[in-house]
Amino acid sequence: MKILVTGGAGFIGSAFIRLTMDAHPEFSVVNLDKLTYAGNLENLKTIEGNPRYRFVRADVCDAAAVDAAFVEHRPDAVVHFAAESHVDRSILSPEPVVSTNFMGSFQILEAAKRHRIGRYVHVSTDEVYGSIPEPLDADESYPLIASSPYSSSKAGSDLLALSYAKTFGFPVMVTRASNNYGPYQFPEKLIPLMISNALEDQALPIYGDGMQVRDWLYVDDHCRAIHAVLAKGEPGEVYNVGGSRALANLEVVHRILKITGKPESLMKTVKDRPGHDRRYAITSEKLEKTTGWRAEMDFELGLQSTIEWYVQNRDWVARVKSGSYRDYYERNYTQR
Ligand code: NAD
Ligand code: TYD
Repeated sequence: MKILVTGGAGFIGSAFIRLTMDAHPEFSVVNLDKLTYAGNLENLKTIEGNPRYRFVRADVCDAAAVDAAFVEHRPDAVVHFAAESHVDRSILSPEPVVSTNFMGSFQILEAAKRHRIGRYVHVSTDEVYGSIPEPLDADESYPLIASSPYSSSKAGSDLLALSYAKTFGFPVMVTRASNNYGPYQFPEKLIPLMISNALEDQALPIYGDGMQVRDWLYVDDHCRAIHAVLAKGEPGEVYNVGGSRALANLEVVHRILKITGKPESLMKTVKDRPGHDRRYAITSEKLEKTTGWRAEMDFELGLQSTIEWYVQNRDWVARVKSGSYRDYYERNYTQR
């Protein structure tokens, strides 16, 4: 089976492709990615040259380029990750976020429907539910009360994907995962930013009182969940994917400082994020019952090994921060 993966050069997409190459010899992958600031082909260095892997540089908003990829590669399934994924960027500059997350999702859905794709996973986020009051854990029927341009563009594209199931009988499933962490995450999200700043003895910016709660999911657990939904999900259904590890941001940052051996004086309270959601919490019961999936990574072990990865890969962090990782694409893909 051939899967067209969009956004496969990013954090979760690249983990999904590495996992697929390692653990699923029955699949080949076509990775369609625009290579924005967050897309880095170095993340896929270990599988380069694998005959089951191909890369196509294209924008998901470009209908002609997307169609050409479907015509040339004839995928059987689609896993759609490509997105502008950062809330703070979506506040500073919503246009590319709305365009990629909504219109890009539309173009991929349209092409997939036209080419009669048999299985489609639309990868989304628990942020579409907005802030969840204690002591609730949102299930898939919880209302969509998204707060930021990022989460509302994701909520819009979730509804669009589900409309393709309802209206056209198109076999799309939606997954809504909680906050992911792990290796190769761009150092703009909480965990990789705090790790890389701590390693460089730079200030760790804490938004507001730092008591906002996020549920943490190890990236490989998320990727296994997507494979489970691809194999066993019901068309038109939504599946939450949580890590069952809800922690306040301050708690996460304290742990990072402890593991890296850095002082708490590095923490600096800064102005809160506008529209900041206080608490995310979901239940993954439906996914567990349908597919047998469970989150396996213990948070303490996952955090420890993520920190070790960032310690070992300080040059990767320096390259993605400076943008010089783009040379890798130029060297390896444009001069053949
Ligand atoms: P990321 O920012 O690390 O990667 C996004 C990838 O998409 C990059 O490779 C980028 O080049 C590509 N891309 C962006 N715009 C594109 C476009 N117009 N055309 C083609 N490619 C484009 O994101 P991530 O953290 O890996 O998230 C992947 C998906 O998972 C997103 O849909 C996101 O909403 C969802 N998600 C993320 C999290 C999380 O904690 N990171 C949690 C739940 C769901
Ligand atoms: P983030 O990683 O941006 O994910 P999301 O907003 O999508 O949940 O942020 C996680 C939490 O950490 C969120 O409550 C905002 C907070 N945060 C900080 O306090 N400081 C930071 O520098 C960042 C990036 C996030």
